Amino acid sequence: MNNISFRMLRFALILLITALSIGVVAAFIFFDIGTFNQYLPFYKLRPMHVSASVFWIFTAAQGGLYVYSNEYFKPEKNNPFLLNISSAIWMATTILILLSFVLGNFGGREYWEFPPIFAIPLLLSWLLLAIHFFKMLFKKGGKFPVFIWMWSTGLIFFLLTYTEANLWLFPWFRENIIRDITVQWKANGAIVGSWNQIIYGTAFYLMTKISGDEDVAFKWQSFFFYFLGLTNLIFNWGHHTYNLPAANWIRNVSYIISMTEWVFLINIMQSFKSKLSESKKFANIIPYRFLLASEIWVFLNLILAILMSIPAINIYTHGTHITVAHAMGTTIGINTMILFASIFYIFSNKDQSLIQKNKSNINLAIWISNISLLIFWVALIIAGIIKGYYTVSQNVAFETTMQHVRPFLWIFAISGVFIAATLTYLSVILLKTKTR
Ligand code: HEM
Repeated sequence: MNNISFRMLRFALILLITALSIGVVAAFIFFDIGTFNQYLPFYKLRPMHVSASVFWIFTAAQGGLYVYSNEYFKPEKNNPFLLNISSAIWMATTILILLSFVLGNFGGREYWEFPPIFAIPLLLSWLLLAIHFFKMLFKKGGKFPVFIWMWSTGLIFFLLTYTEANLWLFPWFRENIIRDITVQWKANGAIVGSWNQIIYGTAFYLMTKISGDEDVAFKWQSFFFYFLGLTNLIFNWGHHTYNLPAANWIRNVSYIISMTEWVFLINIMQSFKSKLSESKKFANIIPYRFLLASEIWVFLNLILAILMSIPAINIYTHGTHITVAHAMGTTIGINTMILFASIFYIFSNKDQSLIQKNKSNINLAIWISNISLLIFWVALIIAGIIKGYYTVSQNVAFETTMQHVRPFLWIFAISGVFIAATLTYLSVILLKTKTR
């Protein structure tokens, strides 16, 4: 069991380092300096970076789920045959996808720009993981804490939404452009909702472990927020499709659902006070620091997301760097921070020595990565506001718009180097930790 989990988590860390290195190169190539763009064109680097990032998140989330579900269900027979096959298929497919990019074999759609045939092994691997998980769940039976509900939801919804993301392969979907884009944007929005269920479930599990307060995972408030998250997963994708000529009631429902996110926001603000007293107690625990950072990023990104869901603002932000800020602000600030909390927790349970020896450097890396991410995120938002303003209101040439945007893209690229350096350092520490 341990071996598969550590293999999966190490593989995830290598994917992260790959994503970071390609991201930095892509950010500088964007300025078309010298002849580099000829050899490493941005349009190829972008899907490589995005895929490596998405697979970092999925792989690390699954690796954590292997460990925690085993810890929670304590299966009698510790023979994860299905898991072994599932993880082997997942890792082999990920490598083949990255290789196909290197060989120039693209295909697929936004965020999944690899040949669509790879969807089959990915779905198969996920299905095996889900079967393994639900077998343990039904065997245990009884009343389950909220994180088990979240993991179950994420496992089922990924199967549904990722299948939906591939519906364009059928002519009935592909041949009508509006139908095609609506389904694609809807599916991509909901896929993120499903991985968030798994990752937020992980954060919940870690918080109960760190604080030792297991009751919180059974409280009605926790379930209320779980159901709110589930409603958002199912309906709030509508704000991804405002610009399409869909029925008005779809827009209205999704707008109202998106606005329920204010409830999350108010809840976070209220819990900050208790977080401050908590942080005095747990500040020395590295996973807790990552969780606290992720909570601040939930807060910041929620404000941005709520604003972006308002149709009058969405017209300006759609397709600008604000969308990129939203995507990277959440995948780095929230998902990556929680996943680091999870991997540090798992690895330090195995061997503390290297992590303890480098504790002050690790803390410094957490600070630098988060401050750089703040600069990176704000620079993208400002670049997006300028682009949205000139494109929608001013009707000027694209080059004029880009002249105003470019200084902020430089700030974005330079702060990206700091994010990449610090997250690579943290990954290397984990990769060097002995787990046998
Ligand atoms: C954990 C680390 C990271 C994750 C999870 C991540 C994730 C993503 C995602 C999901 C997108 C797609 C955004 C969209 O289409 O709206 C993206 C785009 C991009 N990322 Fe990252 N990223 C990471 C780190 C970085 C770093 C350190 C850089 C370096 C500057 C970087 C540079 C870029 C660039 C240039 C794009 C393309 C933006 C565009 O198309 O205009 N990323 N990233």
